[in-house]
Amino acid sequence: MKISEVNFIGSFVKESDCPKSDLYEFAFIGRSNVGKSSLINMLTGRKKIAKVSSTPGKTQLLNFFEINDAWYLVDLPGYGYAKSSKKNREKWRIMIERYLETRENLACIFLLIDSRHELQTIDLDFINYLGAARLPFVLVYTKSDKVKEPELLSNIESIENSLRQHWEDLPQRFLTSSTKRIGQTEILGFIEGVLTNA
Ligand code: GTP
Ligand code: MG
Repeated sequence: MKISEVNFIGSFVKESDCPKSDLYEFAFIGRSNVGKSSLINMLTGRKKIAKVSSTPGKTQLLNFFEINDAWYLVDLPGYGYAKSSKKNREKWRIMIERYLETRENLACIFLLIDSRHELQTIDLDFINYLGAARLPFVLVYTKSDKVKEPELLSNIESIENSLRQHWEDLPQRFLTSSTKRIGQTEILGFIEGVLTNA
């Protein structure tokens, strides 16, 4: 799929504020600083459409982008930001869960995992939540340029072995690097497939 048009629609505090639309929606979520905004910029081929920051916790709202007048891409605030208070984390949880569970046109969630590390408890908890809530999601390994291939493959194997202790079937996965533009064709192809079959 070629991306010819990207329009920033707005940032919303909660699901009920989000645009009422029957366009299918694809949401990007993961630990704070995992590379969500960078991935969105890479996928859309727009350098600055989503705000990238080396300080975690940059994205705090539900940010909507309309792509090719045909679908929405949503940049969600990251979880696990160490410096956020318990109250803020609870606010985040309520906002995200309400959005994910009630948004009717949500076609698929891209759950981003940092390919440099083993599976973090907070990622596992979130994956278990998605599975228990029966929400459709796929895995996206980010920052693959930052580790050498053998380490990358062993990290992914270790992450997926950890997941297999909880889940029989694992969702589809994508390997990405926003700096090296790896994974763009695969992810856009996947989205196109979902839209075509919907
Ligand atoms: P929050 O919105 O704060 O939750 O962060 P985020 O998940 O949107 O992460 P963001 O895209 O802002 O990236 C965080 C940092 O990681 C930035 O310094 C990026 O430049 C860097 N980064 C993101 N993706 C990649 C990648 O694929 N490769 C490399 N080398 N660095 C990356
Ligand atoms: Mg962000």
